[in-house]
This record gives sequence, structure tokens and C-alpha cells, in this order.
Amino acid sequence: MSRTVAVLHGPSLNLLGRREPAIYGTTTLAEIDQRLASLGDTLGVRVECAQRNGEGELIDVVHGWAGRVTGALVNAGAYTHTSLALRDALVAVQVPFVEVHLTNVHAREAERRRSMLAPAAVGVVCGFGAASYEHALRALVGHLSPT
Ligand code: DQA
Repeated sequence: MSRTVAVLHGPSLNLLGRREPAIYGTTTLAEIDQRLASLGDTLGVRVECAQRNGEGELIDVVHGWAGRVTGALVNAGAYTHTSLALRDALVAVQVPFVEVHLTNVHAREAERRRSMLAPAAVGVVCGFGAASYEHALRALVGHLSPT
């Protein structure tokens, strides 16, 4: 298995399962990561997951992808809406990525409708709860290996 897909979770996503469950559901981050690893096996990619709370820490993880990672799923949490620095890092390492959200950010508060990352993304998957990540992984692998 030669290709690695990185998954990056941003601030407070470590609290999934007990963070506002009416909005974000009850699935934990560990469960999401397990499902992605298993789906990765099916799709023939290695999945490498990380979660960080700080903007600079997220950028450091992205820098570590350079020349090593084939593609990525990025749920940057609230930094999605504010961080030009994170977009710059993603563009700098030239790793194709899908922006992911559990919730449909376009159906929420106005400040969540703007994404700093989306202009640089291959695509965006949002609104399917924990399954957003699995849909995004299938979509990314399909994008990387068009039939
Ligand atoms: C989120 C949506 C963001 O607006 C929010 O700040 C999050 C989670 C989501 O997955 O739905 O932390 O990225």
C-alpha cells in the first residue's frame, strides 16, 4: 500500500461525543478515525489521523505532509472560517485536500458560511455528521485515481 491520506481535525474536535451532541452527534473522534482506517483498507490507502487545537500546531502538521502524503481530509473546525495562514500552509505543501464538516455550515450562523480553506480545496463535504469524513475519503480517493 503506497498512498497515504492524512486526516486533520482542528480545535475541540477531540471533544466529539460530548461536545454539543445535539449538533455534532455522539460519535467520538476515536470512532471516526477507526472507521476511516478501515475504509482506507478497503480503498487501498493508508490513513493517518491527527488532531490539534492550536492554529500553529495545525500548520506544523500540514508542513509535515510535504512530499510524503498523497491527499488529505481537513476539518479545521472554527479555523476554517478565519485562517488564511492554514490555507497558505495547505497550498505550500501542494497536497490536494477535501474540506470536511460534520454539520452543514451553510445552514448555521452567517460567520460559518465563509471558508478560508475552500478556495484551495478539491471539494467540500459537510452536513452528514460523522459520515462526512467517509464520504470525503471516498471522494478524495476517486479524485486521486479517476477511472
Ligand atoms: C465544524 C463546523 C465549524 O463551524 C465549527 O467551528 C466546528 C466544527 C463541523 O465539523 O461541523 O468546530 O467544522
